[in-house]
Amino acid sequence: MSRYLSSVLVALLLAPAELFSPLVPQKVLSTFQSLPKPIQYPQWTDSAGKWQMFNPATWTSGFFPVTLYAVNTRKNLCGATAANGLNVADWLTLGRSASTGLIGLTDGNGVGHDVGFLSFAFVEELVINPNNQTAIKAVNDFARILARRYSSTVGCTRSWDASDPTDFQVIIDNLMNLEVLYRSADLTGNSTLRTIANRHADTTMANHIRSDGSTWHVVEYNSTTGAVIKKRTAQGYSDSSTWSRGQAWAIYGFANMYRLAGDSRYLETARRLANYFIKSIPADGIVPWDFNAPLTPSPRPADSSAATIAANALLLLSKHETDPANAKTYSDSAVQILTNMTSLTWRPSWQSLLSNGTVNKPANNQLTGTVYGDYYFITAGNELVARGLATCT
Ligand SMILES: *[C@@H]1O[C@H](CO)[C@@H](O)[C@H](O)[C@H]1NC(C)=O
Ligand SMILES: *[C@@H]1O[C@H](CO)[C@@H](O)[C@H](O)[C@H]1NC(C)=O
Ligand SMILES: *[C@@H]1O[C@H](CO)[C@@H](O)[C@H](O)[C@H]1NC(C)=O
Ligand SMILES: *[C@@H]1O[C@H](CO)[C@@H](O)[C@H](O)[C@H]1NC(C)=O
Ligand SMILES: *[C@@H]1O[C@H](CO)[C@@H](O)[C@H](O)[C@H]1NC(C)=O
Repeated sequence: MSRYLSSVLVALLLAPAELFSPLVPQKVLSTFQSLPKPIQYPQWTDSAGKWQMFNPATWTSGFFPVTLYAVNTRKNLCGATAANGLNVADWLTLGRSASTGLIGLTDGNGVGHDVGFLSFAFVEELVINPNNQTAIKAVNDFARILARRYSSTVGCTRSWDASDPTDFQVIIDNLMNLEVLYRSADLTGNSTLRTIANRHADTTMANHIRSDGSTWHVVEYNSTTGAVIKKRTAQGYSDSSTWSRGQAWAIYGFANMYRLAGDSRYLETARRLANYFIKSIPADGIVPWDFNAPLTPSPRPADSSAATIAANALLLLSKHETDPANAKTYSDSAVQILTNMTSLTWRPSWQSLLSNGTVNKPANNQLTGTVYGDYYFITAGNELVARGLATCT
């Protein structure tokens, strides 16, 4: 048997069956049916697995609508049968319906910098219907809102506002915003948006990543001079530690920038970030909420969302990786991360698919399901099927 075939077979054996359980569409449908009116969106669960609902002006509001688009993608990949449970709804119609609550969002809402996540469902809509004017307007509006937060002195878009306007804070998560700038540049022909995305990535590459490939969560710049003032954490264990979800966003962000811009520096950066993530997973196979958090008291809280985001990031990186050996390492690692995390966190009795999300450990918000962890669990399954690395059952 060829090496290629045997690696495909190993991957087929390893992908966890829960990825394709009929509980996935079943839970997503019942969450849709329980959305409050006027609409609110799930963000995290309580410790019994019950979704907590939030107003649309919340950074996570886009994840449930785009989850419905992801189940629609699953239906296109796998077909809709009673056995796989995908036959119980018209997922595209549900996704479009759930997206309507996001349309009115503008930058007065306190989520001014998280427009990338909020745009996901509209980006998916445009894949299906490139002429949907509502989705076109939403993508362009979100990109414009983000562009207004750009400083050419700093070379980044601003994350949180500070009381001192010269204190310019940038979080690693914002790499996830850059695609909406690219999409809007494609739609409008305005190449300034692409330039802003590239400069944000370049500045982040220079200042947010340590020599060992780990990351800081927050870098503060002086907006008058562009100088770095401080490198610190907000949601991690300490200023010198590595918050695992931030590291996962960073891998995804640079792999995606390599896909969009084709600049090999972004590929090299994504590799360094990925290698750090993979080598930092402890022997129990579980992604901790912070790679440097103490082991006691035991167990050190996991973050299932960091695991599912990283799995998608590694699959994206492996797809665009130019070195076949690296590509295999990254896709194998993605499957292994999913397998190990699923065995710890799959919760049939919860409204979410997974438990053991750490939303914000310093704020003591942990041991929850998360809407983003579940979204990336579903997209990881889709990607494995699309790449022939798993079957639908
Ligand atoms: C266009 O997209 C919006 C937002 O995603 C959606 O609510 C609407 O139903 C779509 N319109 C059509 C005709 O598909
Ligand atoms: C392109 O986008 C930038 C950022 O939003 C904006 O400042 C500029 O006016 C736009 N250019 C045109 C020609 O619309
Ligand atoms: C930024 O630099 C200016 C000019 O040196 C200074 O007045 C301001 O206090 C600095 N801001 C911060 C947050 O350090
Ligand atoms: C996972 O969550 C369960 C409760 O749902 C908890 O008992 C367990 O300690 C958690 N494990 C880790 C590693 O966080
Ligand atoms: C992690 O997953 C791999 C399979 O992908 C398995 O071989 C390994 O034993 C798992 N590790 C733990 C500690 O469960």
